[in-house]
Amino acid sequence: MRLEGKRVLITGAARGIGLEFARAYLAEGASVALADINAAAVEEAAGALGAGAHAVTMDVTRQESIEAGVEAAVAAMGGIDILVNNAALFDAAPIEEITRESYDRLFSVNVAGTLFTLQAVARHMIARGEGGKIINMASQAGRRGEPLVAVYCATKAAVISLTQSAGLNLIRHGINVNAIAPGVVDGEHWDGVDSLFAKYENRQRGEKKRLVGEAVPFGRMGTAQDLTGMAIFLATPEADYIVAQCFGVDGGNWMA
Ligand SMILES: NC(=O)c1ccc[n+]([C@@H]2O[C@H](COP(=O)([O-])OP(=O)(O)OC[C@H]3O[C@@H](n4cnc5c(N)ncnc54)[C@H](O)[C@@H]3O)[C@@H](O)[C@H]2O)c1
Repeated sequence: MRLEGKRVLITGAARGIGLEFARAYLAEGASVALADINAAAVEEAAGALGAGAHAVTMDVTRQESIEAGVEAAVAAMGGIDILVNNAALFDAAPIEEITRESYDRLFSVNVAGTLFTLQAVARHMIARGEGGKIINMASQAGRRGEPLVAVYCATKAAVISLTQSAGLNLIRHGINVNAIAPGVVDGEHWDGVDSLFAKYENRQRGEKKRLVGEAVPFGRMGTAQDLTGMAIFLATPEADYIVAQCFGVDGGNWMA
């Protein structure tokens, strides 16, 4: 129960990594507001988690929705001590086929969504004067480019950069901003990634997923549970002196 009494807001929490983080924070004694653009899915997810879990409908691309979502989370839990900026979209295409629409959509969710949700929660934390923890979900994709993944990689590089600037700026208020860079994590997200690679690399469905799993030095793809230890640690007082960092949790994938 390392987070007893803490209040956590997680964006993009209706499924995947965000939902698993919600489960992990609840198990550590925290209350959790699960925020997602998919209202029905987030209601169902929070309902299934039971006591201490609250559903918030929130679109991180719309300023009024961010502000209303943060207000709803504060009203439901009495405050926010920990934010996980997790909502993101993925797309893939060769450079000559990237569309302006895909670029705008990914930067709007992954970069602007991260920055303005962080800003709204930081304002709340600053006003309260008790500090806080902000964890941004980056990716190994933010540490180097990939031939078919230019836009997503660029958004995640931006998330790492925002983590550094916000981390340096907000630590004077006792707010730690850090990031987690997963490698390849199995789930519905990767089913979508796999189908894009099947299209552009002319593969069978499931083949890319199998190959990336085999290439991980640890010997398999990650699971959302593989990331929860870092997500909890960064939210505890043990991480008070950790500022503006991005931690790879990837079975050795990026290093390899
Ligand atoms: N799965 C991986 O292999 C992997 C690897 C590296 C990094 N990541 C990162 O981890 C995070 C979670 O990944 P995941 O695999 O669980 O993704 P996912 O696609 O399963 O879940 C993302 C969630 O975000 C929500 N969302 C999308 N747009 C939104 C918006 N505008 N406002 C609010 N919510 C919105 C979706 O409805 C969905 O529930 C993301 O930031 C992702 O980039 C994932």
